[in-house]
Amino acid sequence: MADNRKLSFGPIAAPASGVLIVFADDNLRFGPRTRSALGSAADLVARAARAERFTGKNGTVLDIVAPAGLKAGRLIVMGTGKAGDRKPRDLAKLGGAAMGRIPSAAAAATVLLELAEGPLKPRATAEVALGATLRAYSFDRYKTKRKEGEEHSAKADVTLGVADPAGARKAWSSRQPVAEGVVLARDLVNEPPNILYPAEFARRASALRKLGVAIDVLDVKAMRKLGMGALLGVGQGSEHDSRLVVMRWNGGAKGTAPLAFIGKGVCFDTGGISIKPAASMEDMKGDMAGAACVVGLMHALAGREARVNAIGAIGLVENMPDGNAQRPGDIVTSMSGQTIEIINTDAEGRLVLADVIHYVNTKYKPKFMVDLATLTGAIIVALGQEHAGMFSNDDKLADRLIEAGLDTGERVWRMPLAPEYDKLIDSKFADMKNTGGRFGGAITAAQFIQRFVGKTPWAHLDIAGTGFASPASDFNKSWGSGWGVRLLDQLVAEHYE
Ligand code: BES
Ligand code: MN
Ligand code: ZN
Repeated sequence: MADNRKLSFGPIAAPASGVLIVFADDNLRFGPRTRSALGSAADLVARAARAERFTGKNGTVLDIVAPAGLKAGRLIVMGTGKAGDRKPRDLAKLGGAAMGRIPSAAAAATVLLELAEGPLKPRATAEVALGATLRAYSFDRYKTKRKEGEEHSAKADVTLGVADPAGARKAWSSRQPVAEGVVLARDLVNEPPNILYPAEFARRASALRKLGVAIDVLDVKAMRKLGMGALLGVGQGSEHDSRLVVMRWNGGAKGTAPLAFIGKGVCFDTGGISIKPAASMEDMKGDMAGAACVVGLMHALAGREARVNAIGAIGLVENMPDGNAQRPGDIVTSMSGQTIEIINTDAEGRLVLADVIHYVNTKYKPKFMVDLATLTGAIIVALGQEHAGMFSNDDKLADRLIEAGLDTGERVWRMPLAPEYDKLIDSKFADMKNTGGRFGGAITAAQFIQRFVGKTPWAHLDIAGTGFASPASDFNKSWGSGWGVRLLDQLVAEHYE
């Protein structure tokens, strides 16, 4: 659930109690206001630093209990290294690292947000607040007992001391919705699959109505009428019916083509009849991370009243084996009219995306489409967990995503598409088959999706390695990472508002 630490902004001043956190560069220099807030304790820091060989190197910490000359019970000095260009990612890291240093028993903490090189602009302080908020996240909805010292029992009120508190509050008011969007996406990914099945997911997405997002939920009957045989084939072996949710945020000029974001929402992926091995199958509750990101993004855009028209569309299914489940050998007809031979029922995500992408493309004629999907194990083999795989038919869109990735730290790595790969999914019996063999598994999956895209600029993000269970960072300790919300919010803010 969301953090239980209250965050507020105040001046750069020494607090009357609690934990005090300050930043120093690698010459052990403070910003001027921090220096005067420390007063005589600055000498104490210098002595403690010598004793501890603390040099202010980026990422290092000096922790002083009961610092003489201060009312705070604890002074924590965090090294920021050399001055330099700090990207949003670096600022969020700073906030996350500071938040992580607050002992869980502390009732209050003050972080003086000033660097040796000078005060942070409001926009930068909001980025620090974002990192702090994301670090404080923990998913403890289903824990009935609390262990002493566990992070989720932390409850300190946190004050960020800044040069311009009013400016920071204003900047935070448009950044906070993005933090909430990430938190929402993480919550959805972390929820267990017995709770979060397609209809329940659709209900949670529908809550965006209160932010002014228009919501359409299509049930099985509506999708059958549209001819979505690819999506429906995946869900037909489950007791839980499939859904398609379309979220529309109209913050831009009337009549301008919307941006479209499309998410794979497989609420649980057993593999179907081509059933997966038991080891780690529980992770497949996260096979809806693409859809979760799209919901989180729509929350962010609506919450900060982005001046853009945007569509979020998520295909929600459960891939189960039962008497009515789809078989290898089945041939289904997608909404586009193209037929698909099912070779492996575990290659289900592309089937879901095929129909949602075609639907969005033909109905809304978007400026571009970006889809997100925990699509292939092969992308994890190729790229590990630090980059999502990106496939695109449009260099401009691809370059913008790469740039937004470097800014936010949610990095993407472009992978190839080519006719020779496309040939690998030709089928003996139908227009195509749903797997392309062992080689280039992430590529043939992307080729499959591309067959439903037409000429619209499009990028496919394979987030199998980044959407969940990825390495912890300074501002993410959660299993479900909420990956992509910050990336796509940045893409929109930078180029389309
Ligand atoms: N949801 C999985 C991919 C996945 C695996 C995501 C591990 C995250 C972690 C997807 O539906 C799948 O099963 N893909 C198969 C495709 C294969 C059958 C062609 C895969 O990657 O093995
Ligand atoms: Mn699968
Ligand atoms: Zn899957």
